[in-house]
Amino acid sequence: MSTPALAVHDLSVRFKTGADSRHAVDGISFSIDAGEATALVGESGCGKTITALAILGLLPDSGVHVESSAIEINGRDISGLTGSRRREVLGRDIAMIFQNPGTALDPVFTLGRQISAVYARHCGGGKEHIRQKVIESLEAVGFSQPQDIAAAYPHQLSGGMRQLAMIAMATVCKPAVIIADEPTTSLDNSTRAVILQQLERLRTLHQTAILLVSHDLATVRQSCQKVMVMYCGRLLEKTDCESLFSHARHPYSAGLLSCIPQISDTRPAMINSIPGQVPAAGEFPPGCHFAPRCPRVESMCNQSVPALDTDKQQAVACFRPL
Ligand SMILES: Nc1ncnc2c1ncn2[C@@H]1O[C@H](COP(=O)(O)OP(=O)(O)OP(=O)(O)O)[C@@H](O)[C@H]1O
Ligand code: SF4
Ligand SMILES: [Mg+2]
Repeated sequence: MSTPALAVHDLSVRFKTGADSRHAVDGISFSIDAGEATALVGESGCGKTITALAILGLLPDSGVHVESSAIEINGRDISGLTGSRRREVLGRDIAMIFQNPGTALDPVFTLGRQISAVYARHCGGGKEHIRQKVIESLEAVGFSQPQDIAAAYPHQLSGGMRQLAMIAMATVCKPAVIIADEPTTSLDNSTRAVILQQLERLRTLHQTAILLVSHDLATVRQSCQKVMVMYCGRLLEKTDCESLFSHARHPYSAGLLSCIPQISDTRPAMINSIPGQVPAAGEFPPGCHFAPRCPRVESMCNQSVPALDTDKQQAVACFRPL
């Protein structure tokens, strides 16, 4: 079996609140192979972004406790790296595309300068070589006039163009793994399609492993091979996209799928929702955390937390799966 591009082993994140601490992510494990796109889906507040930030080591040191057995990129454990050794890995081996490029890009430097700084730090080379790499990275995400984009400041570009420039910056060193956290939220449909095409291109051309954090199940179905469903910081279902969309086994996954609006010629679109709300970190009910919202709940569900049955190809954490 080949070494996965990203392997996360037993990752937990707790927020400290006074003498107490609250789990936001609770013992999750998964791996993504080179050239594979895996989605992390779930309602708002279920722990997706905290998971992404914890993998990258970008959570603050104070008030947050991150634990894992290992976080491996191509077999190398990066979980213990701090300071400059951690920064060496970020951008070179693993990179993140944030939801809001406006806050991730520095407004006082041109895009060319920001992308060059990333390349120079991780890959090095002479001035002309670096300039060439910047232009190539901008061309690779579809800019037909890459010189003009390199000379521009972030505020001179539209939101979609900034997002593409951020993808160029994240991929200029050809990292093995890219984590994209809601990369298309708040973009119009055509820009969204361009961003997804570029991620797909990276995956197939450079065998990049992609973790796509998304609310949008239609995008997930179109862009990913595998999918993980998260709720209250735990993985409830982990499988290939085809299996999830044809037959979700976890009642929560089934609930999420039922919320996808169905467009019909004859009836107005119906928008469903799962009754109730995601509890905040630290307020998870005992037993199965989904029990208060689950249509299949039985008394046994409140006794203990169901574990993910990872021996199955369509792994599910439920006492009464569908
Ligand atoms: N600094 C913090 N202190 C305490 N709890 C926090 C902190 N940051 C996040 N949380 C909690 O962690 C949980 C997970 O948050 P996270 O941002 O990962 O959700 P998400 O799944 O990315 O949601 P969204 O889809 O809205 O982006 C939430 O309950 C949130 O309230
Ligand atoms: S364990 Fe019980 S409450 Fe939880 S999802 Fe399964 S059936 Fe529902
Ligand atoms: Mg988030």
